[in-house]
Amino acid sequence: MSASLPAVSRSEIPRNADGSAAGSTVTPDSLVLVARTLARYDEFAEWYEQWTSGFGPPLISAHPELMPPLAGLRLLDLACGHGRLSRDLARAGATVVGVDFSGALLDKARTRDSADIDYVQADVTRAPHWWDGHPFDGCTCELALMDIDDLSGTLATVATVLRPGGWFVASIVHPCFPGNDNGLSSWPSDRGYDAEVWWISPDHNPNGARIRVGATHRKLATYLNGLLDAGLELERIIEPAAPIPTFLLWRCRRRWDDNA
Ligand SMILES: C[S@@+](CC[C@H](N)C(=O)[O-])C[C@H]1O[C@@H](n2cnc3c(N)ncnc32)[C@H](O)[C@@H]1O
Repeated sequence: MSASLPAVSRSEIPRNADGSAAGSTVTPDSLVLVARTLARYDEFAEWYEQWTSGFGPPLISAHPELMPPLAGLRLLDLACGHGRLSRDLARAGATVVGVDFSGALLDKARTRDSADIDYVQADVTRAPHWWDGHPFDGCTCELALMDIDDLSGTLATVATVLRPGGWFVASIVHPCFPGNDNGLSSWPSDRGYDAEVWWISPDHNPNGARIRVGATHRKLATYLNGLLDAGLELERIIEPAAPIPTFLLWRCRRRWDDNA
């Protein structure tokens, strides 16, 4: 995305009285900048905390087989939100840095048990100036890559802060999700699977996050090639049992030899 494109305010997105998206077509590049320039979750932080409180454990916590024993490890929880996963990682004995763009969600995280967790407000798509230079053993990212517009910038951050051989475990809405009664497909319904855009629609599940913050759709190949291009080699993929594909998790490892 060119930095010379004009920044666009959230207020330019057509909205219903309750704040949900009123328009289904979000194609201009300038609108994609919304997520790059603003912390979209700030205005929905209260709602998001309450909404997720009705959930079970984060997907990554529910799949501990993706991670080694965590005690004593130094971990980064990327786009940590209000710290749902960061707290699980710290309870398992890790020292955690949680990074997120949304000051409002981080404020909520800090009011909870934050022993062994440092929360940092930063854009994870940019060079990690917040990083103290001590490599992380592992990095997690729970259900957030669809909220982050610049995949390669984010994966570059992961590769920069991980030690060689360090792991990256992430969960995403399955990019091949064809949609069901609870919400639209991963991709804009009027554009199709090839449309790799940030989009928002009033037809999303009215009780869910996407009608409020939209989502960036990417093809499966884009995710997988993005990981490989960043030097993050796939080790394991999980598609949790569901009548139709809903979520996807993976474990990658930073290459030992970056010149390989
Ligand atoms: C669906 S929430 C997931 C939060 C948390 N991982 C969880 O499972 O509750 C997506 C998160 O991505 C964060 N986010 C989006 N773009 C970001 C960016 N460029 N840098 C840092 N965080 C970002 C949002 O602020 C939000 O907290």
